[in-house]
Amino acid sequence: MKIFLETFGCQMNEYDSELIRSILRSHQHTFVEQLDQAEVALLNTCAIRENAHERIYHRLDDLKGRKRRQKNLVVGVLGCMAQNLRQELAEHAPIVDIVAGPDSYKRLPLLIDAASGKGAKGFDFSLSEYETYSDIAPQRQPGVNAWIAIMRGCDNFCTFCVVPYTRGRERSREPQNIVAEAHRIAAEGFKQVTLLGQNVNSYRYEQSDFADLMESVAEVFGIRRVRFTSPHPKDFPRKLLHTMAANPKLCKHIHLPLQSGSDSVLDRMNRTYTRQEFLDLVDEIRAIIPEVSLTTDVICGFCGETDADFEETLGVMQRVEFDSAFMFKYSPRKQTIAERKFADDVPEEVKTQRLMRLIDVQREISKKRNAVEVGNVYEVLVEEPSKKNSDEWLGRTDQNKGVVFFDDAAKPGDFVQVRINAAGTNTLRGAVERNGWRRLPVQTECCVS
Ligand code: 5AD
Ligand code: SF4
Repeated sequence: MKIFLETFGCQMNEYDSELIRSILRSHQHTFVEQLDQAEVALLNTCAIRENAHERIYHRLDDLKGRKRRQKNLVVGVLGCMAQNLRQELAEHAPIVDIVAGPDSYKRLPLLIDAASGKGAKGFDFSLSEYETYSDIAPQRQPGVNAWIAIMRGCDNFCTFCVVPYTRGRERSREPQNIVAEAHRIAAEGFKQVTLLGQNVNSYRYEQSDFADLMESVAEVFGIRRVRFTSPHPKDFPRKLLHTMAANPKLCKHIHLPLQSGSDSVLDRMNRTYTRQEFLDLVDEIRAIIPEVSLTTDVICGFCGETDADFEETLGVMQRVEFDSAFMFKYSPRKQTIAERKFADDVPEEVKTQRLMRLIDVQREISKKRNAVEVGNVYEVLVEEPSKKNSDEWLGRTDQNKGVVFFDDAAKPGDFVQVRINAAGTNTLRGAVERNGWRRLPVQTECCVS
């Protein structure tokens, strides 16, 4: 059948869509770019915040209209929202034929057959404790970066977070299998690998920990950069910092979710670290990897957050000076501990005001941190034409900063030396260094390992 697959949410969902493509192609299904060419419309959904749900319900409304005109269109809701709102979707959205959670993708061919052949609805909610899809080779879209999920699920149960309920228990993939995937990725021409997990610190497979895995992936010939997301501040392995500092292929960027700077809020969130422990960790990271860039996630308006708590969060942001931050208003998620135990008592307008303040403060910090880059020369991995001006390129530094520049000789996947000559809040601008400029030889990495 002809399948249209739309992905919402995080990188893990992007990766899962690559798995879904692979599973369905191996059952002779094909993929189309336009919804109006499709016989099956699949939405791979996200449940992390309320606005993710709203976007998907909006999309389902579109599909309702379409299904009136095309009666045999099969509609499937997959992924986190499917797992989280399975009854609601099954009962209240009569247009939905298939509902399948993140551990059920291998059953999709069966579910599609059932829904298209006999008109029966197909549902599969099971969360497996073992499924890692390590036997499936994801079908990636061509590009510069390839994601590899090294583990699935999460056991941390932060009280605001739905992930432990939508993705189930934490399980790590075998390192040999991950390294084999990295070899395939390199052979396909990808230059960068990003290792994905809800909490990569707890990656463990027999004797191997996450630092060992990073080193093994970095040894893969053809892979020039290795990134990861995300670690948890509570159990950040010091060994990983030393490994990162010593290995030039391991990118000097850490996404370290703060969530809140107030001890009482952190406690209610079940983050299991204090403000001071977070600050000490940042100092240690910067002492071991001085050139590191740090980014974060912050939630404002969590249950019981007072003005004083919020000021503490701003205080940590100002003290740490993250290079950039993702900032969110708290939204209660079904099944979570916070939704069951705490009142969502910060008024919506206060959440909005706090979010605006966070954004203002972070914008000034990002500007300041970017401004000091002017004059520096960075090796930039060319990614794609710049969105604003397709004559220019967007690339990234090792620290994951976006750089826009002009170079008529470059192409995606090249490494070029760029001198930064202007800095904005979100991106840097630069010019290719012509003095001594050279495209780096592609095979230098064998000397690194
Ligand atoms: N409300 C708001 N933000 C949330 N996040 C996770 N759950 C919620 C929620 N219920 C944010 C956290 C997390 C990021 C991926 O999404 O900051 O790190
Ligand atoms: Fe959610 Fe916390 Fe797990 Fe991250 S570590 S996925 S925030 S429960």
